[in-house]
Amino acid sequence: MKYPSGTSIRTFAPASVSNLNCGFDILGFALEKPGDVVDLQLNDSKEVSLKEITGDNGLLPTSVEKNTASAVVKLYLEQTGINQGVAVSVHKQMPLNSGLGSSAASSVAALLGINTLMGNQLSLSELLPLAMEGERLACGNAHADNVAPALFGGLVLIRNNQTADIVSIPIPDSLWVAIIHPDVSIPTREARKILPEMIPLRDAVVQWGNVAGLIAGFYRNDPGLISRSLHDVVVEQHRSARIPFFGEMRQAAIHEQALGFGISGSGPTVFAFCTSHAIATAVTTRISALLSQGDVSHQTFVSMINPRGAEVLEILQPEHLTH
Ligand code: HSE
Repeated sequence: MKYPSGTSIRTFAPASVSNLNCGFDILGFALEKPGDVVDLQLNDSKEVSLKEITGDNGLLPTSVEKNTASAVVKLYLEQTGINQGVAVSVHKQMPLNSGLGSSAASSVAALLGINTLMGNQLSLSELLPLAMEGERLACGNAHADNVAPALFGGLVLIRNNQTADIVSIPIPDSLWVAIIHPDVSIPTREARKILPEMIPLRDAVVQWGNVAGLIAGFYRNDPGLISRSLHDVVVEQHRSARIPFFGEMRQAAIHEQALGFGISGSGPTVFAFCTSHAIATAVTTRISALLSQGDVSHQTFVSMINPRGAEVLEILQPEHLTH
């Protein structure tokens, strides 16, 4: 059922951790928190408009075509051939340029909202390529390793980004994630430019051994195999220099018995996989103390992997239609 003009919807899409060290551009998982909230309201204007952006400190583009949330809503309406006016409001509830899939969360929340209001004309899988276009707009590359987990939830393998071939990977029991966001900004677009075009074959062999080991570790629910495989010999060496106290944070995480530690997406956020809530809390506490000593402001989160992905929070129909 397509909702009538005047209806508004509020949706949430979660932050996500992508790459998981060895799986650059092909692995990602959704977090319980933080995430973005998007409000859409249908109107009779036949235009997509950007009504409000909060929580971005004025940093996000305000034109409909450049803001990822409004741009993907416009793309959705073009693709489905629906002539509908809609006002978009974006409420950022996570840091921008953080490596937590901020643009992905906004695009996915916006797409879930418009698709629901239009009576689910597209399946979730059909929304994915539209969300990937939001990523292209945000950073110049249409990768799915943030949008796919934000949309579907869970831990996701992108077997092929071009064909958006997505494989859901089982989530091991009792896997907790410690997230630490040092307050520096690293735009993904820039963090991609510093990566090499070519990698030596010997590094590729190590990397694909680790990717295969990590996937096997998830299927076997084998913390030891996950821990041995959670290494990156391709990307981290180029990106870690921009992250304050990266080496010290890793040492602290491993000291507290984390299974592994690495950069979340393009950084500066870092993550550690842990086998209990207590260990994840100990990791964030120790790293928080380290960053405070170094005068680096930061935020920390402890989360499990979010199996649900994006969610509709509320639908409000115009009063004259509900009485
Ligand atoms: N896989 C991407 C990267 C994630 O590392 O550049 C950032 O959006």
